[in-house]
Amino acid sequence: MSDTAGLVTVTAPAKINVHLAVGGLRPDGFHDLSTVFHAIDLHDTVLAAPASGLALRLDGPEAAGLRSDHTNLAWRAAALLAEHAGIAPDAAVTVRKTIPIAAGLAGGSADAAGTLRACAELWRLGIGASELALLAEQLGSDVSFALQGRTALGTGRGEQLQQVQVRANWHWVVAAADGQLATPAVYAELDRQRAADGATRTLGDPSALIEAFGRGDLEAVAGLLGNDLQPAALALAPYLRNTLQAGADVGALAGIVSGSGPSCVFLARNAVHATEVAAALQKTQTCRLAFAVRGDVAGAQVRLREDSVQQ
Ligand code: C5P
Repeated sequence: MSDTAGLVTVTAPAKINVHLAVGGLRPDGFHDLSTVFHAIDLHDTVLAAPASGLALRLDGPEAAGLRSDHTNLAWRAAALLAEHAGIAPDAAVTVRKTIPIAAGLAGGSADAAGTLRACAELWRLGIGASELALLAEQLGSDVSFALQGRTALGTGRGEQLQQVQVRANWHWVVAAADGQLATPAVYAELDRQRAADGATRTLGDPSALIEAFGRGDLEAVAGLLGNDLQPAALALAPYLRNTLQAGADVGALAGIVSGSGPSCVFLARNAVHATEVAAALQKTQTCRLAFAVRGDVAGAQVRLREDSVQQ
């Protein structure tokens, strides 16, 4: 145990997709994407402590209903990293959940990315960014972005990333829903809708949005937000129409379903406007919880290592 660190604390951000263009179904069961990921300052916290064997504990306001066994993505992240390094997975991992689960905010992916970082630090692996990214993409399509953070163009199934430069401080309101949506079910509904229509309409290329983001052009960004999964999410969770309408009614610049939903995300002019929109939206009772967030922010990162604190 002497070559491990003490308690390691990592924060891992949620993401929204400000552009999510979904291509056709691939033979491997995934869809080709052209998406713009944007990391927001809504974080889960991952703590890793020395232990004998692997243990996972979940707590925090959004932990209810999650399993803490080998099926949890955080567990799988620790196990995969240990296997890759050829060591025993000796860690007591605690995930403090603040990101709503099955919400289209990539909370599970954040936990996996946070666990990779925390355990790499705990076990003093000195592992490079590209090696960690290779492990991340094995865990899920959004885990690579959760490691990298900020704003990025995602292609492939979402794991191939290219950083996008944006103006600092974009203000959003997240409306978390009462219900949950399983990502595979939303993609399957999109495939069903496309088969029924006999057409594959897609948002396509996000370059206009990326340019608007780079210029800091709020109005243009508002007009260009888009999500191909939205019609499928609305079909499975029709109550989201009320949330989107309520966001528009209380003055948000634009609103979309986040990822596969059911969270919705709204663009605001600035921090004060975001707080006002969140409060007004909460009063409409069209969502469980509405709160202001800021993007973009860094990906999963070590905040504290107990034995590195200077006395
Ligand atoms: O990669 P991840 O485990 O997050 O994906 C969950 C599910 O979402 C996949 O099994 C698939 O059904 C769907 N998915 C997809 N195309 C993507 C990403 C996810 O169809 N690019």
